[in-house]
Amino acid sequence: MKPPYSDMSQPSESWQITELSRNLKPSAIRELLNLATRPGMISFAGGLPAPELFPVEELKAAADMVFSTQGRSALQYSVTRGLLPLREAVAERESIGGIKSTHENISITSGAQQGIELMGRLFVNAGDYILTEYPTYVGALQVFNALGARYASVPMDNDGMIVSEAEALIKQFKPKMIYVVSTFQNPTGITMLMSRRNELVALAKKYNLPIIDDSPYDELRFSGEPLPSLKQLGEDSVIGLRTFSKILSPGIRVGWINASDDILKIAERIKQGSDLHTSSLNQLIVLEYLKTGKLFGHIQKICVDYLNKRNAMITRMKECFPAEVSWTEPEGGLFLWLTLPSHLSATTLLEKAIAENVLFVPGKPFYPDGQCDNTFRLNFSNASLSQIHEGIDRLGKAISAFC
Ligand SMILES: Cc1ncc(COP(=O)(O)O)c(C=O)c1O
Repeated sequence: MKPPYSDMSQPSESWQITELSRNLKPSAIRELLNLATRPGMISFAGGLPAPELFPVEELKAAADMVFSTQGRSALQYSVTRGLLPLREAVAERESIGGIKSTHENISITSGAQQGIELMGRLFVNAGDYILTEYPTYVGALQVFNALGARYASVPMDNDGMIVSEAEALIKQFKPKMIYVVSTFQNPTGITMLMSRRNELVALAKKYNLPIIDDSPYDELRFSGEPLPSLKQLGEDSVIGLRTFSKILSPGIRVGWINASDDILKIAERIKQGSDLHTSSLNQLIVLEYLKTGKLFGHIQKICVDYLNKRNAMITRMKECFPAEVSWTEPEGGLFLWLTLPSHLSATTLLEKAIAENVLFVPGKPFYPDGQCDNTFRLNFSNASLSQIHEGIDRLGKAISAFC
Protein backbone atom coordinates (compact mmCIF):
# COMPACT_ATOMS: atom_id res chain seq x y z
CA MET A 1 0.00 0.00 0.00
CA LYS A 2 1.22 3.46 -0.89
CA PRO A 3 1.94 5.73 2.03
CA PRO A 4 -0.65 8.56 2.12
CA TYR A 5 1.92 11.22 1.30
CA SER A 6 3.37 9.48 -1.77
CA ASP A 7 1.59 11.69 -4.33
CA MET A 8 2.61 14.91 -2.68
CA SER A 9 5.35 16.99 -4.22
CA GLN A 10 8.70 17.14 -2.43
CA PRO A 11 8.61 19.44 0.63
CA SER A 12 11.36 21.50 -1.02
CA GLU A 13 8.89 22.28 -3.84
CA SER A 14 5.80 22.98 -1.75
CA TRP A 15 7.22 24.57 1.39
CA GLN A 16 8.38 28.16 1.32
CA ILE A 17 12.10 27.67 1.90
CA THR A 18 14.17 30.84 1.64
CA GLU A 19 15.29 32.04 -1.75
CA LEU A 20 18.92 31.95 -0.58
CA SER A 21 18.61 28.24 0.35
CA ARG A 22 16.78 27.40 -2.86
CA ASN A 23 19.55 28.99 -4.92
CA LEU A 24 22.43 27.27 -3.12
CA LYS A 25 24.52 25.14 -5.48
CA PRO A 26 25.97 21.82 -4.36
CA SER A 27 29.74 21.91 -3.88
CA ALA A 28 31.39 20.97 -7.18
CA ILE A 29 34.12 19.19 -5.26
CA ARG A 30 31.85 17.18 -2.93
CA GLU A 31 29.95 15.97 -6.03
CA LEU A 32 33.20 14.89 -7.67
CA LEU A 33 34.28 13.05 -4.52
CA ASN A 34 31.37 10.66 -5.11
CA LEU A 35 32.88 9.76 -8.50
CA ALA A 36 36.33 9.40 -6.91
CA THR A 37 35.28 6.14 -5.24
CA ARG A 38 34.48 4.50 -8.60
CA PRO A 39 36.72 1.41 -9.06
CA GLY A 40 39.86 2.25 -11.07
CA MET A 41 39.36 6.03 -10.77
CA ILE A 42 42.44 8.12 -9.97
CA SER A 43 41.40 11.35 -8.29
CA PHE A 44 43.33 14.60 -8.17
CA ALA A 45 40.07 16.36 -7.27
CA GLY A 46 39.69 16.60 -3.48
CA GLY A 47 41.95 18.62 -1.18
CA LEU A 48 42.69 15.48 0.79
CA PRO A 49 45.91 14.92 2.75
CA ALA A 50 47.92 11.71 2.25
CA PRO A 51 46.07 9.07 4.32
CA GLU A 52 49.18 6.90 4.71
CA LEU A 53 50.78 9.72 6.73
CA PHE A 54 48.03 10.08 9.31
CA PRO A 55 49.65 9.31 12.70
CA VAL A 56 47.08 6.63 13.46
CA GLU A 57 49.00 4.86 16.22
CA GLU A 58 49.96 8.10 17.96
CA LEU A 59 46.39 9.40 17.83
CA LYS A 60 45.12 6.05 19.11
CA ALA A 61 47.56 6.30 22.02
CA ALA A 62 46.40 9.87 22.66
CA ALA A 63 42.74 8.76 22.59
CA ASP A 64 43.50 5.85 24.97
CA MET A 65 45.17 8.26 27.36
CA VAL A 66 42.19 10.65 27.19
CA PHE A 67 39.70 7.86 27.89
CA SER A 68 41.70 6.39 30.74
CA THR A 69 42.52 9.66 32.51
CA GLN A 70 39.59 12.01 31.73
CA GLY A 71 36.97 9.90 29.96
CA ARG A 72 34.03 11.54 31.67
CA SER A 73 34.96 15.12 30.84
CA ALA A 74 35.90 14.06 27.29
CA LEU A 75 32.34 12.79 26.82
CA GLN A 76 30.69 15.79 28.50
CA TYR A 77 29.52 19.15 27.06
CA SER A 78 32.18 21.81 27.36
CA VAL A 79 32.74 25.54 26.85
CA THR A 80 32.07 27.23 23.51
CA ARG A 81 35.41 29.00 23.22
CA GLY A 82 37.33 25.70 23.48
CA LEU A 83 39.16 23.90 26.27
CA LEU A 84 41.56 26.24 28.04
CA PRO A 85 44.62 23.92 27.97
CA LEU A 86 44.20 23.47 24.21
CA ARG A 87 43.80 27.22 23.69
CA GLU A 88 46.99 27.74 25.70
CA ALA A 89 48.86 25.11 23.70
CA VAL A 90 47.66 26.64 20.41
CA ALA A 91 48.62 30.16 21.59
CA GLU A 92 52.09 28.88 22.42
CA ARG A 93 52.49 27.34 18.94
CA GLU A 94 51.27 30.60 17.36
CA SER A 95 53.78 32.61 19.41
CA ILE A 96 56.63 30.30 18.37
CA GLY A 97 55.48 30.79 14.77
CA GLY A 98 55.79 34.58 15.19
CA ILE A 99 52.21 35.57 16.08
CA LYS A 100 52.28 36.89 19.66
CA SER A 101 49.25 35.27 21.28
CA THR A 102 47.75 34.23 24.57
CA HIS A 103 44.76 31.96 25.15
CA GLU A 104 42.58 35.09 25.04
CA ASN A 105 43.33 35.39 21.32
CA ILE A 106 42.33 31.81 20.55
CA SER A 107 38.91 30.32 19.95
CA ILE A 108 38.71 26.65 18.99
CA THR A 109 36.48 25.96 15.98
CA SER A 110 35.18 22.89 14.21
CA GLY A 111 37.76 23.27 11.44
CA ALA A 112 38.83 26.44 9.66
CA GLN A 113 35.60 26.10 7.69
CA GLN A 114 33.65 27.09 10.79
CA GLY A 115 36.03 30.01 11.28
CA ILE A 116 35.04 31.25 7.82
CA GLU A 117 31.36 30.87 8.65
CA LEU A 118 31.64 32.69 11.98
CA MET A 119 33.56 35.57 10.41
CA GLY A 120 31.09 35.78 7.53
CA ARG A 121 28.17 35.90 9.93
CA LEU A 122 29.97 38.44 12.08
CA PHE A 123 30.79 40.94 9.34
CA VAL A 124 28.49 40.39 6.35
CA ASN A 125 24.83 41.26 5.81
CA ALA A 126 22.97 40.12 2.69
CA GLY A 127 24.01 42.31 -0.22
CA ASP A 128 27.32 43.36 1.35
CA TYR A 129 30.55 43.04 -0.60
CA ILE A 130 33.60 41.01 0.39
CA LEU A 131 36.98 41.77 -1.16
CA THR A 132 38.52 38.46 -2.29
CA GLU A 133 41.21 37.05 -4.50
CA TYR A 134 40.02 35.99 -7.95
CA PRO A 135 39.92 32.95 -7.89
CA THR A 136 39.28 32.08 -4.24
CA TYR A 137 38.49 29.08 -2.01
CA VAL A 138 35.22 27.54 -3.12
CA GLY A 139 34.25 26.53 0.45
CA ALA A 140 34.38 30.19 1.46
CA LEU A 141 32.21 31.15 -1.50
CA GLN A 142 29.66 28.57 -0.34
CA VAL A 143 29.51 30.20 3.10
CA PHE A 144 29.40 33.74 1.74
CA ASN A 145 26.81 32.90 -0.95
CA ALA A 146 24.53 31.48 1.74
CA LEU A 147 24.75 34.87 3.49
CA GLY A 148 23.79 36.68 0.28
CA ALA A 149 27.21 38.30 -0.09
CA ARG A 150 28.56 39.93 -3.23
CA TYR A 151 32.18 40.10 -4.31
CA ALA A 152 34.75 42.73 -5.11
CA SER A 153 37.20 40.39 -6.83
CA VAL A 154 40.86 41.33 -7.13
CA PRO A 155 42.78 39.58 -9.92
CA MET A 156 45.85 37.49 -9.12
CA ASP A 157 49.15 36.81 -10.82
CA ASN A 158 51.95 34.46 -9.81
CA ASP A 159 52.71 36.71 -6.81
CA GLY A 160 49.19 36.54 -5.39
CA MET A 161 46.47 39.18 -5.22
CA ILE A 162 47.38 42.25 -7.30
CA VAL A 163 46.92 44.52 -4.32
CA SER A 164 47.49 47.70 -6.35
CA GLU A 165 44.06 47.04 -7.92
CA ALA A 166 42.31 46.60 -4.59
CA GLU A 167 41.96 50.23 -3.49
CA ALA A 168 39.76 51.25 -6.41
CA LEU A 169 37.50 48.27 -5.67
CA ILE A 170 37.31 49.21 -1.99
CA LYS A 171 36.26 52.74 -2.94
CA GLN A 172 33.68 51.47 -5.44
CA PHE A 173 32.12 48.59 -3.50
CA LYS A 174 32.78 49.47 0.14
CA PRO A 175 33.36 45.84 1.22
CA LYS A 176 32.78 44.80 4.83
CA MET A 177 35.84 42.56 5.02
CA ILE A 178 38.80 41.20 3.08
CA TYR A 179 39.04 37.42 2.75
CA VAL A 180 42.33 35.93 1.51
CA VAL A 181 44.23 32.66 1.46
CA SER A 182 47.61 34.36 1.30
CA THR A 183 49.92 31.33 1.46
CA PHE A 184 49.81 28.31 -0.88
CA GLN A 185 46.35 29.37 -1.86
CA ASN A 186 43.53 26.98 -2.51
CA PRO A 187 43.01 26.66 -5.48
CA THR A 188 46.14 28.08 -7.16
CA GLY A 189 48.98 27.17 -4.76
CA ILE A 190 50.18 30.78 -5.12
CA THR A 191 51.75 32.73 -2.23
CA MET A 192 51.33 36.48 -1.81
CA LEU A 193 54.58 38.41 -2.27
CA MET A 194 56.06 40.12 0.81
CA SER A 195 55.61 43.67 -0.52
CA ARG A 196 51.96 42.92 -1.34
CA ARG A 197 51.39 41.58 2.18
CA ASN A 198 52.56 44.90 3.59
CA GLU A 199 50.48 46.80 1.05
CA LEU A 200 47.33 44.83 1.87
CA VAL A 201 47.74 45.33 5.62
CA ALA A 202 48.28 49.08 5.07
CA LEU A 203 45.17 49.24 2.89
CA ALA A 204 43.07 47.37 5.46
CA LYS A 205 44.20 49.81 8.15
CA LYS A 206 43.55 52.84 5.95
CA TYR A 207 39.95 51.75 5.27
CA ASN A 208 39.45 50.15 8.68
CA LEU A 209 38.63 46.75 7.18
CA PRO A 210 39.26 43.40 8.86
CA ILE A 211 41.43 40.98 6.90
CA ILE A 212 40.39 37.35 7.32
CA ASP A 213 43.55 35.39 6.52
CA ASP A 214 42.58 31.78 6.03
CA SER A 215 45.83 29.83 6.40
CA PRO A 216 45.47 26.05 6.50
CA TYR A 217 48.63 25.53 4.45
CA ASP A 218 51.23 27.93 5.95
CA GLU A 219 53.11 25.19 7.76
CA LEU A 220 53.29 22.95 4.69
CA ARG A 221 56.23 24.76 3.08
CA PHE A 222 58.62 22.40 1.36
CA SER A 223 60.90 24.83 -0.48
CA GLY A 224 61.80 28.53 -0.47
CA GLU A 225 61.87 30.92 2.46
CA PRO A 226 58.96 31.35 4.89
CA LEU A 227 57.24 34.75 4.81
CA PRO A 228 55.65 36.48 7.79
CA SER A 229 51.91 35.86 7.86
CA LEU A 230 49.44 38.69 7.40
CA LYS A 231 48.45 38.15 11.04
CA GLN A 232 52.06 38.69 12.09
CA LEU A 233 52.27 41.87 10.03
CA GLY A 234 48.85 43.32 10.79
CA GLU A 235 48.34 42.05 14.36
CA ASP A 236 44.84 43.06 15.54
CA SER A 237 43.75 44.25 12.10
CA VAL A 238 43.99 40.65 10.87
CA ILE A 239 41.96 37.64 11.93
CA GLY A 240 43.82 34.38 11.39
CA LEU A 241 41.98 31.14 10.63
CA ARG A 242 44.02 27.99 11.19
CA THR A 243 43.42 24.28 11.48
CA PHE A 244 44.87 20.89 12.36
CA SER A 245 43.22 19.45 9.22
CA LYS A 246 46.21 19.52 6.89
CA ILE A 247 48.95 19.01 9.48
CA LEU A 248 47.29 16.25 11.54
CA SER A 249 43.84 15.05 10.41
CA PRO A 250 40.85 16.69 8.72
CA GLY A 251 38.49 14.08 10.19
CA ILE A 252 39.24 15.29 13.71
CA ARG A 253 37.64 18.69 12.85
CA VAL A 254 39.68 20.94 15.14
CA GLY A 255 40.76 24.40 14.03
CA TRP A 256 41.05 27.83 15.62
CA ILE A 257 40.61 31.55 15.16
CA ASN A 258 43.36 33.90 16.26
CA ALA A 259 41.82 37.33 16.89
CA SER A 260 41.40 39.97 19.55
CA ASP A 261 39.34 39.00 22.58
CA ASP A 262 36.47 41.40 21.78
CA ILE A 263 35.92 39.83 18.34
CA LEU A 264 36.13 36.33 19.80
CA LYS A 265 33.49 37.17 22.42
CA ILE A 266 30.98 37.92 19.64
CA ALA A 267 32.11 34.94 17.53
CA GLU A 268 31.51 32.79 20.59
CA ARG A 269 27.84 33.80 20.70
CA ILE A 270 27.43 32.90 17.02
CA LYS A 271 29.21 29.58 17.51
CA GLN A 272 26.94 28.80 20.46
CA GLY A 273 23.96 28.84 18.12
CA SER A 274 25.82 26.81 15.57
CA ASP A 275 27.27 23.80 17.44
CA LEU A 276 27.53 24.76 21.16
CA HIS A 277 31.21 23.78 21.06
CA THR A 278 33.76 21.76 19.12
CA SER A 279 33.91 18.08 20.14
CA SER A 280 35.44 17.89 23.65
CA LEU A 281 36.78 14.42 22.89
CA ASN A 282 38.58 15.54 19.73
CA GLN A 283 40.01 18.64 21.42
CA LEU A 284 41.45 16.47 24.19
CA ILE A 285 42.93 13.99 21.71
CA VAL A 286 44.64 16.82 19.83
CA LEU A 287 45.92 18.26 23.11
CA GLU A 288 47.28 14.87 24.20
CA TYR A 289 48.99 14.46 20.81
CA LEU A 290 50.53 17.96 21.08
CA LYS A 291 51.97 17.01 24.48
CA THR A 292 54.05 14.26 22.82
CA GLY A 293 55.98 16.96 20.94
CA LYS A 294 55.72 14.93 17.74
CA LEU A 295 53.80 17.40 15.59
CA PHE A 296 56.83 19.30 14.30
CA GLY A 297 58.54 16.11 13.06
CA HIS A 298 55.26 14.91 11.61
CA ILE A 299 54.87 18.11 9.57
CA GLN A 300 58.43 17.72 8.27
CA LYS A 301 57.55 14.19 7.12
CA ILE A 302 54.48 15.50 5.32
CA CYS A 303 56.56 18.19 3.59
CA VAL A 304 59.11 15.66 2.29
CA ASP A 305 56.33 13.47 0.92
CA TYR A 306 54.40 16.33 -0.72
CA LEU A 307 57.53 17.74 -2.33
CA ASN A 308 58.21 14.33 -3.90
CA LYS A 309 54.66 14.10 -5.13
CA ARG A 310 54.61 17.65 -6.47
CA ASN A 311 57.87 17.00 -8.33
CA ALA A 312 56.63 13.68 -9.72
CA MET A 313 53.44 15.33 -10.96
CA ILE A 314 55.23 18.23 -12.62
CA THR A 315 57.90 15.99 -14.20
CA ARG A 316 55.24 13.76 -15.75
CA MET A 317 53.19 16.76 -16.88
CA LYS A 318 56.23 18.15 -18.70
CA GLU A 319 56.60 14.81 -20.47
CA CYS A 320 53.04 14.29 -21.57
CA PHE A 321 51.05 17.55 -21.59
CA PRO A 322 50.89 19.72 -24.74
CA ALA A 323 53.09 22.84 -24.65
CA GLU A 324 50.01 25.12 -24.62
CA VAL A 325 49.13 24.04 -21.07
CA SER A 326 50.77 26.02 -18.23
CA TRP A 327 50.78 25.56 -14.46
CA THR A 328 51.93 27.01 -11.12
CA GLU A 329 54.86 25.48 -9.21
CA PRO A 330 53.98 26.14 -5.54
CA GLU A 331 56.54 25.95 -2.75
CA GLY A 332 54.04 24.28 -0.43
CA GLY A 333 50.45 23.27 0.11
CA LEU A 334 48.42 20.73 -1.81
CA PHE A 335 47.57 22.09 -5.24
CA LEU A 336 48.74 22.92 -8.75
CA TRP A 337 46.68 25.29 -10.89
CA LEU A 338 46.61 24.73 -14.62
CA THR A 339 45.63 26.97 -17.49
CA LEU A 340 44.50 25.72 -20.90
CA PRO A 341 44.44 27.91 -24.01
CA SER A 342 41.61 30.41 -23.50
CA HIS A 343 39.23 28.88 -26.05
CA LEU A 344 39.21 25.49 -24.25
CA SER A 345 36.88 24.46 -21.44
CA ALA A 346 38.15 22.49 -18.44
CA THR A 347 34.54 21.48 -17.73
CA THR A 348 34.41 19.74 -21.12
CA LEU A 349 37.88 18.29 -20.55
CA LEU A 350 36.62 16.80 -17.29
CA GLU A 351 34.08 14.67 -19.21
CA LYS A 352 36.92 13.28 -21.32
CA ALA A 353 39.08 12.76 -18.24
CA ILE A 354 36.29 10.85 -16.48
CA ALA A 355 36.13 8.55 -19.53
CA GLU A 356 39.87 7.94 -18.94
CA ASN A 357 39.20 7.30 -15.22
CA VAL A 358 40.94 10.38 -13.87
CA LEU A 359 39.46 13.33 -11.97
CA PHE A 360 40.31 16.97 -11.34
CA VAL A 361 38.34 20.06 -10.34
CA PRO A 362 37.51 22.59 -13.08
CA GLY A 363 38.37 26.18 -12.15
CA LYS A 364 34.94 27.81 -12.68
CA PRO A 365 33.51 27.21 -9.16
CA PHE A 366 36.47 29.09 -7.65
CA TYR A 367 35.45 32.29 -9.46
CA PRO A 368 32.48 34.11 -7.91
CA ASP A 369 31.24 34.99 -11.42
CA GLY A 370 31.79 31.45 -12.76
CA GLN A 371 34.21 32.62 -15.47
CA CYS A 372 37.67 31.32 -16.51
CA ASP A 373 36.54 27.86 -17.59
CA ASN A 374 39.99 27.25 -19.11
CA THR A 375 41.52 26.68 -15.66
CA PHE A 376 41.58 23.66 -13.36
CA ARG A 377 43.06 22.40 -10.08
CA LEU A 378 45.12 19.29 -9.44
CA ASN A 379 45.73 17.93 -5.94
CA PHE A 380 49.07 16.18 -5.50
CA SER A 381 48.96 15.14 -1.83
CA ASN A 382 46.38 12.36 -1.83
CA ALA A 383 47.39 9.99 -4.64
CA SER A 384 50.38 7.64 -4.43
CA LEU A 385 53.43 8.21 -6.66
CA SER A 386 52.36 5.41 -9.02
CA GLN A 387 48.82 6.81 -9.20
CA ILE A 388 50.29 10.24 -9.97
CA HIS A 389 52.32 8.73 -12.81
CA GLU A 390 49.39 6.79 -14.25
CA GLY A 391 46.82 9.54 -13.62
CA ILE A 392 48.89 12.22 -15.36
CA ASP A 393 49.40 9.86 -18.33
CA ARG A 394 45.64 9.45 -18.57
CA LEU A 395 45.06 13.17 -18.23
CA GLY A 396 47.75 13.86 -20.85
CA LYS A 397 45.86 11.56 -23.24
CA ALA A 398 42.58 13.36 -22.56
CA ILE A 399 44.18 16.82 -23.00
CA SER A 400 46.11 15.90 -26.15
CA ALA A 401 42.93 14.60 -27.81
CA PHE A 402 41.25 17.85 -26.81
CA CYS A 403 43.83 20.56 -27.58
C1 LIG B 1 41.50 27.65 2.18
C2 LIG B 1 40.78 26.66 3.02
N1 LIG B 1 40.12 27.08 4.10
C3 LIG B 1 39.47 26.23 4.89
C4 LIG B 1 39.43 24.88 4.62
C5 LIG B 1 38.66 23.97 5.53
O1 LIG B 1 39.51 23.44 6.48
P1 LIG B 1 39.00 22.61 7.74
O2 LIG B 1 39.12 21.16 7.37
O3 LIG B 1 39.91 22.99 8.83
O4 LIG B 1 37.60 23.01 8.00
C6 LIG B 1 40.10 24.38 3.50
C7 LIG B 1 40.05 22.96 3.19
O5 LIG B 1 40.42 22.48 2.15
C8 LIG B 1 40.80 25.29 2.68
O6 LIG B 1 41.48 24.91 1.60
